[in-house]
Amino acid sequence: MTDLLAQVDRNRLPQHIAIIMDGNGRWARDRGEDRVYGHYEGVVSVREIVDACGELGVGYLTLYAFSAENWNRPKAEVDALMELLVNTIRKEVDDLKKNNVRLHVIGDFASLPEMAQKEMGEGMEMTAMNTGLNLILALSYSSRQEIVMAARKLAEMATNGTLKPEDITDEVFHRCLDTALFPDPELMIRTSGENRISNFLLYQLAYSELYFTPVHWPDFRKHNLYEALLDYQRRERRFGKTSEQIQKNNIPNV
Ligand code: IPE
Ligand code: IPE
Ligand code: MG
Repeated sequence: MTDLLAQVDRNRLPQHIAIIMDGNGRWARDRGEDRVYGHYEGVVSVREIVDACGELGVGYLTLYAFSAENWNRPKAEVDALMELLVNTIRKEVDDLKKNNVRLHVIGDFASLPEMAQKEMGEGMEMTAMNTGLNLILALSYSSRQEIVMAARKLAEMATNGTLKPEDITDEVFHRCLDTALFPDPELMIRTSGENRISNFLLYQLAYSELYFTPVHWPDFRKHNLYEALLDYQRRERRFGKTSEQIQKNNIPNV
């Protein structure tokens, strides 16, 4: 593992990593356990990856913890997930504070149970002065909904005359999203072998590098993150240009 970490180029780290933490249910079923057991074990991975990102000096980590569509799961599982969220924040907030991690939430905050809103609200408040890793939890999150809400805000401003339609730019649009304060992720990881985006950061992932791994989330550990980072660092990000243009620009001016 130290070998893998030693290979990671600290000067070329993504500033923002986003993760779809998938496979908790299958991980538990493989062990003959209830799906909820997988969610509990998934918290151990969250702790590891938050630690690793803090140690590396990554600026932003967005974790997809609960999608708007996940409300459609059996009530017992939804209730268990919400309870786990509350208990985890309660248990971890002191460490987050100590480790200079700042907590944020994106998604439909108002749709969370009152207890979860309260705990998350306190967690954000307690860590608001921290300047290290920004930990962004996507809760009751739907990217399409986020985009629709942004369109609605812009339409309202255009209707009441505070914004001209021709002044709506990419930057203005971005400022209306839940992620207004964060840069776009350079790297998006999805665990558990599913090759899809599942309504996650559709606007923000426009030029992200996507990394899919068969490892289930409860098995995802620091070395898996380092592998993803090494894979990312081997890629050439072209943003529509040619490889030759990119390589020419990489030659330092002397
Ligand atoms: C991800 O694991 C956690 C949440 C969506 C809350 P899943 O619960 O989706 O696990 P699988 O995909 O069914 O194995
Ligand atoms: C995406 O996983 C949501 C989270 C990880 C929180 P799902 O398991 O809900 O996604 P689908 O249903 O397989 O696309
Ligand atoms: Mg899943």
